[in-house]
Amino acid sequence: MDIKIYKTAEEASKVAAEIFKDTLKTGNEVFGLATGSTPEKTYEVLAASDLDFSNAIAINLDEYYGVAATHDQSYAYFMNHHLFQHKPFKETHIPNGENTDAEAETARYDAILEQNPRDLQILGIGTNGHIAFNEPGSSFDATTTKVQLTDSTIQDNSRFFTDPEEVPHEAYSMGIKSIMDAKHILLMAFGEGKAEAIKNIVEGPVTEEIPATVLQNHPNVTILLDEASASKLSNN
Ligand code: GLP
Repeated sequence: MDIKIYKTAEEASKVAAEIFKDTLKTGNEVFGLATGSTPEKTYEVLAASDLDFSNAIAINLDEYYGVAATHDQSYAYFMNHHLFQHKPFKETHIPNGENTDAEAETARYDAILEQNPRDLQILGIGTNGHIAFNEPGSSFDATTTKVQLTDSTIQDNSRFFTDPEEVPHEAYSMGIKSIMDAKHILLMAFGEGKAEAIKNIVEGPVTEEIPATVLQNHPNVTILLDEASASKLSNN
């Protein structure tokens, strides 16, 4: 794992945007994208750049179950707002949170993933070490699934909803196996709240109880941190 620590999230996000640029330059154009507050600044830099994504394919990690794409807290809305309306892609994919047929929806998404191997996969991390919505205890062999969110994730996500009752308890999520299929994985984490999770994935044993520790098994992982999220590393 290539771990880089920057003073601020802003600096790290500029580096992340450079990694997008380098990926495009080498003719690689399938991007696995993430939502959450962590990649927001990176998308801001990309949106303001002169990079051309019109031949690129975006495949998002996850979507809340039961939430319409038009809802302002849906991940579809987030991606349009932060990136796609500024930088049109050739194709964008995200699970359909309104499809109540989970078997059909997960199979549909797995087929998209199969046809479009990711060149670069962006990841944030949950405070409990989840990636996408693969919560502690998720199998490393999983493909797309409909997942139950843990209380800590529901609590973390409630900050974005005006009514806590509205926070979804379920989601569709790309599985860990599909995440690990990407050629290059770029994980970002900012703020002290992520410090424990980062210590675990860099220094702890690989365990399904902390899903992001699986990244130790991937040959090409870049981790961009700010000083706060790196503060618990022994060697920072
Ligand atoms: C959600 C998303 C994850 C994201 C995590 C952290 O659970 N499904 O993909 O990494 O939130 O969010 P934030 O970046 O806002 O801390």
